[in-house]
Amino acid sequence: MVWSLVVWIITALLILGVLTQRWWEPRLADKRFDLRAFPWRWYFAGFPAVAIRMRWRWKQVCLINDLSISRQPRRTVVGDMVVKGDALRQVMPRIGLPHVTPTGLVVRIRLNQGQTPAPFLAAAEALEHAWEVHRVRVTSPRRREVLVTVTARDPLAEEPMSEVAHRPKVLLARVGRIEDGGAWVLDFKKVPHWLVVGATRSGKSTLLAALVRELAPQPVALVGIDCKGGMELGLFGRRLSALASTRKEAGALLVALVDEISKRMAQCRSAQVRSVWELPDAERPVPVVVLVDELAELYLTDGSRESRDEAARCSTHLLRLAQIGAALGLHLVVSGQRVGSDLGPGVTALRAQLGGRIAHRVNDPTTAEMALGDLSPEAVDVAQLITEEEQGVAVTTIGGRWMRARSVLTTTEEARQTAAESAHLAPELPVLVEAINKEGGNA
Ligand SMILES: Nc1ncnc2c1ncn2[C@@H]1O[C@H](COP(=O)(O)OP(=O)(O)O)[C@@H](O)[C@H]1O
Ligand SMILES: [Mg+2]
Repeated sequence: MVWSLVVWIITALLILGVLTQRWWEPRLADKRFDLRAFPWRWYFAGFPAVAIRMRWRWKQVCLINDLSISRQPRRTVVGDMVVKGDALRQVMPRIGLPHVTPTGLVVRIRLNQGQTPAPFLAAAEALEHAWEVHRVRVTSPRRREVLVTVTARDPLAEEPMSEVAHRPKVLLARVGRIEDGGAWVLDFKKVPHWLVVGATRSGKSTLLAALVRELAPQPVALVGIDCKGGMELGLFGRRLSALASTRKEAGALLVALVDEISKRMAQCRSAQVRSVWELPDAERPVPVVVLVDELAELYLTDGSRESRDEAARCSTHLLRLAQIGAALGLHLVVSGQRVGSDLGPGVTALRAQLGGRIAHRVNDPTTAEMALGDLSPEAVDVAQLITEEEQGVAVTTIGGRWMRARSVLTTTEEARQTAAESAHLAPELPVLVEAINKEGGNA
C-alpha cells in the first residue's frame, strides 16, 4: 500500500519533470538561475487546477460556444414530417495535454472534419471565463489544429518575481490598520514621497510617530524638521540623524541635504546606474527619510526681508529634494494643516511631487480637495466626513484606490523607549548636524 503510493508519487513527479522540461532545462544551465524566482505556486497548485478545469468543462464550453459538430444531419424524417433541430449526439474537438509554461499553459486542439478556427477565435473570451484565467489567445499555426495559449494571471499586475525576491526589507512601515482589517503599510520604494494633511489634533504627528517607530529598527537615516520647537519629533531625538527645530536650522539642513543628494547623483552617474538601489551593497549610501511636521512653519513670514529669504530658501530646497530625491534614496513625508498656494510659491509644485496622500479630518474642503482631489473625487467627500472624535482616522490612496485607515497611537513613553532602544542604529550624517549647529550658533 505504502509502496504503491511512493511509486505513484515518483511517477507523478517524473511526469511533471518531463512536462516542465522545456522551462527548466535552459535555466539550470544558466548560472544566474534563481530558485526564489521560480513560480512554485503556479507549477504545483495553479497549473493542475486549471488543467482539471479545462478537462472538466470542455464539453459544456464546446456546446455553448458552438465548437462541437454533430455527425447527424440537422434534419430528419419522423413519420411524414421533416424535423429540424440540433442532434443530441455532439462530437467535441479533441483537446490535447496541456504544456505548462512559467506564466500559463499551451494546449493544442484538433479540429473536427469541416471545422474552421473562426468559432475558436470568437470563443477566446468565453474560455477565459470558463477556465478562470487571465487571457486566452487562439491561433491556428497548422491546418486542422488550433493552438490555445493561456496566461494564468496578468503578468503586468505584479512586479517580476525576481525583483520582489531581491527587494530588501527596508523603507516599509506598518503604521496602522485599513478599514478592511489589513495592515496600513507605507512602502517608500513604491511611493517615495508622502503628503499628510489634517487639522490641528487630527492625528498628523501621531502618524509621523508611528512611522518613525516602524523605521527605527531599519537601516534608514531619519531626519526631522519640526519647527514647532521640535516637541513632536524631538522625542525620537536619539534615533534621528539630525533634527532641525527652527526655520533657520531647517533652511541649513535642507541645503546640506541637497548637497548630499547632489553627491549621490554624481556617484550614480559615475557608476552608470539610474538609482542608488542599483549600486553594489557596499557602496550604496543609506536611505534618508526626511519628516517635516507642520509645513506651514517653513513658509510663514513676518514680512521682513530676512524671513522671506529664509522661507524661499526652504521652499526651493524642499522642492529640489522632492524632485530628484526618490532615485537617490531620499524620501519626504510632509505634514501640514494646509497645503494651498497661499502658503507661498513652490507649495503647489511640491504637492505635485508628493505622490502618496493621506488626509485626516480637515477644516476646509479645499485642503481635502488638494490632498485627494486629483486622485479620487469620492475620497474627498469621505475625508470630510471624519469627525473630531475619530482622531488618527484618515483617508489614503492605496494602489489607485482610496481607503479609510487609522494609525496606531504611540505614547510619549513608547516614543522615548523606541529612541533609546534604537539610538545605536542611527546612521551618522555629520554634515547635516554641522549645518544645523552652525545655524544654531549664529542665531
Ligand atoms: N491613531 C490614533 N489613535 C488614537 N488616538 C489618536 C490617534 N491619532 C491621534 N490621536 C489623539 O489625537 C491627539 C492629537 O493628535 P496629533 O497627532 O498630535 O494631531 P496633529 O499633529 O494633527 O495636531 C493625540 O494626542 C491623541 O490623543
Ligand atoms: Mg502635530
